Amino acid sequence: MEFSEELKTLKDQVRFDGSFRTGTFSNIVIAGMGGSGIAGRIFSEMYSAKPVFVCDDYHIPEFVDGNTEFIAVSYSGNTEETLSAAEEAIKKGAKVHAITSGGRLSEMGVDTIKIPGGLQPRSAVGYLTMPIINTFIRPKHEDIEEAAGLLSDLDKNNTVQENIATEIYAGRRIPVIYGSTPYRSVAYRWKTQFNENAKILAYSNYFSELNHNDTMPLRDTYRKDEFYFMAFDSTDERIRKRIEVTQKITGTSFKKIEARGSSLIARIFYLIHFGDYVTYHLARIRNVDPQDVSAIEDLKKRIS
Ligand code: PA5
Repeated sequence: MEFSEELKTLKDQVRFDGSFRTGTFSNIVIAGMGGSGIAGRIFSEMYSAKPVFVCDDYHIPEFVDGNTEFIAVSYSGNTEETLSAAEEAIKKGAKVHAITSGGRLSEMGVDTIKIPGGLQPRSAVGYLTMPIINTFIRPKHEDIEEAAGLLSDLDKNNTVQENIATEIYAGRRIPVIYGSTPYRSVAYRWKTQFNENAKILAYSNYFSELNHNDTMPLRDTYRKDEFYFMAFDSTDERIRKRIEVTQKITGTSFKKIEARGSSLIARIFYLIHFGDYVTYHLARIRNVDPQDVSAIEDLKKRIS
């Protein structure tokens, strides 16, 4: 499937209704790397009823026990860090679940939701994230439909996104993406999409944390015109003020990225898809294949 066709599947992915059955639990741990790992990061910003730990490592935290709902997320089902984390969770007696399209993870004998294969992992963000959201948040049908509608609109018209990609390419600039709660993980997702789809380095951080570090180089770094600064708009007055004052005192202008939609799930997926299209267009303009992850695959082979 062409990458642009992969992107168009997201509107249907958010309608994916898989979920896990859970009992009583005291914490949630979600393990996953890269395009699969983003699922846990997104969920952890949407849910705060119980502690959520995002595990992007071989080893799981010490607190994991029989009261932990542990979810291993790996599109291929063969990612070594995720398999190692899942094995440790099984040994510790956690309630282990998996989201995967196959591979060794699907053969571990844990409670598994099998999702469709054939996509790049990062294009399967809906399939990878919705089972977690459905299990612990149970979104309303109309919120899902709102998300699907906004994604479909982006599929039909992504000129704004193409223009941003053109500007980035024209100056050969490094994207800097600033998010804020509840879109910190989305800013990181954009960074990783620039990396994998467009094959360029990118950087992300978030308000208000960046006002305690990045704010200095925003004023004083060398060759500031090497960067393309973007900030997700916020509905929080304090954050809005920070965005404005940061621009003023550092002499930096941020391209404002506005979320659309009224429900949180719609706004999050809208922003995710916005970034998908910017990075897809940048890949196209650069004449690189957005599906190519050969260096990542080569590395996986060499260390296995
Ligand atoms: O998008 C990608 O291809 C990568 O970031 C992968 O998601 C990452 O290497 C982990 O692999 P998987 O998603 O199969 O667990």
